Amino acid sequence: MIFELNQKEPEMFSGDLLVYFIRETEGKTVPCPSKVVRRELKQAWKSGDFTGKRGQTFLFYPSATAKHSAAYRVLAVGLGKAADESDKNALREQIRLAAGTAVQQAAGLKVTSLMAVLPEKTGLEDSEVAECLTEGLILGSYRFDKYKSKKKDQEGNQDEKTEIQAFFLQVGTLNPKAAQEGMSLGKKAATAACRARDMANEPGNGWPPAKFAEFGQRLAQKHKLSCEIIEKDAMKKLGMGGILGVNQGSALPPKLVILKYEGGKKTDPTLMLVGKGLTFDSGGISLKPGLGMEDMKYDMCGGAAVICAMQAIAQEQPKGINVVALVPSTENLPASTALKPGDIITHYNGKTSEIINTDAEGRLILADALAYGIEKYTPDAVIDLATLTGAVIVGLGHHRTGLMATDDSLADQLLAAGDRAGEPLWRLPLGPEYSEQIKSQVADIKNIGGRGAGSITAAAYLQEFVGDTPWAHLDIAGTAWNFTKKSYIPKGPSGIAVRTLVDLVRHWQGKKKGS
Ligand code: BES
Ligand code: MN
Ligand code: ZN
Repeated sequence: MIFELNQKEPEMFSGDLLVYFIRETEGKTVPCPSKVVRRELKQAWKSGDFTGKRGQTFLFYPSATAKHSAAYRVLAVGLGKAADESDKNALREQIRLAAGTAVQQAAGLKVTSLMAVLPEKTGLEDSEVAECLTEGLILGSYRFDKYKSKKKDQEGNQDEKTEIQAFFLQVGTLNPKAAQEGMSLGKKAATAACRARDMANEPGNGWPPAKFAEFGQRLAQKHKLSCEIIEKDAMKKLGMGGILGVNQGSALPPKLVILKYEGGKKTDPTLMLVGKGLTFDSGGISLKPGLGMEDMKYDMCGGAAVICAMQAIAQEQPKGINVVALVPSTENLPASTALKPGDIITHYNGKTSEIINTDAEGRLILADALAYGIEKYTPDAVIDLATLTGAVIVGLGHHRTGLMATDDSLADQLLAAGDRAGEPLWRLPLGPEYSEQIKSQVADIKNIGGRGAGSITAAAYLQEFVGDTPWAHLDIAGTAWNFTKKSYIPKGPSGIAVRTLVDLVRHWQGKKKGS
């Protein structure tokens, strides 16, 4: 895929689709720098058929009517009303949504090359305009058709949808250097999010734990990163009873994938990311109901988010920060060898846990990864991401990721990053009352906390393994797929949290311990 900044006149573009973004205004004339567009849109604007409202589009073929545009088609896309200029995040989202609408339209046409003219006077920095536009174009044109055998239509023609091969951003009146920078940021983050969608779209038999290991190793070969895989035998020696316990019913070996990015000196702050890489969650002996169980191939979205964020970080090479990522990965399946309700396991840090429900398995694999990673890498902050509880969907629906944290600064930075990325979070509390709910009669803790506050008691379980390292937990069960309907979010996995993490790393104010 080609993605380029263009400084020539948009009228010179002789590709398939030229896109202009138009603000919703009360004015008499169409607010667009292009004469051709102003003329073609005149009637639609006058009649109120096209007002620049969000989601609106107007397509025309200029060659039939004008000599002044070389493009085959021109599309005007509504940006919506000028939001409150102080609400930068709303403006950013407006641009992503309009870009998503543009590529959705293009998908129904035979478009292979598209030029989008960067809108002016948006209230945003020039680099932000390019960044968000790039994100919307890439995220909105995502498709996963790897497993579709190519079908012929009735006339015997290949029934493949045309894919856009080349994108051009036309700078318009914006600063080219800033636009170039923004485009590059948007491209890295959105491409990584699409990669996470690819992993999630893979079925359980297409993305077993070994694939996480392979992906990590390939990343490390390509970039300035190191990769280590902790295999089953090593897990036994280390005493990772959580990962091993969950893995007992699976014929496939578990993997703990560790990626390390060193962007600075040893004394620079280290951020640790941990992602749940459960490649299929049947519930185990506490088997889930059959209806919708196929969706549990998505139970690795936390792991995908973390490992794909590392891809973007490795490309970006930020200075003054070290990032270590851990992805514990296994399947959760029933078998005669599987973990049973009542069994007691011992985690990496020596804590014992009574298994009440084998379907509360995510916390078991995360617990080992958190305790091990914190001991080994002494990070200054830890963030874990997991499709951890159905309860978070009851609480927040599919619109916000649940956030629980022991550190206000880390929580606030995550909330801000999520807002900038269009991936909002909502903070829920932690506290001793919730930790009380997971006390066990026979072991140190038990793996479920009763009826109330299911998402928080799951977090309280993880809290047992982080000590006093600043820590935040993101429950993405509601947002990793079926996320809020948006033009740039297709059905299926959303790639949630990849862009939030990348944004966080770009802005992170890491406090060194003791300072
Ligand atoms: N992976 C599931 C959580 C989940 C459920 C994600 C629905 C997305 C949609 C997790 O492993 C799980 O099964 N959690 C249980 C916990 C319960 C047994 C305490 C749940 O939420 O039902
Ligand atoms: Mn489960
Ligand atoms: Zn699960």
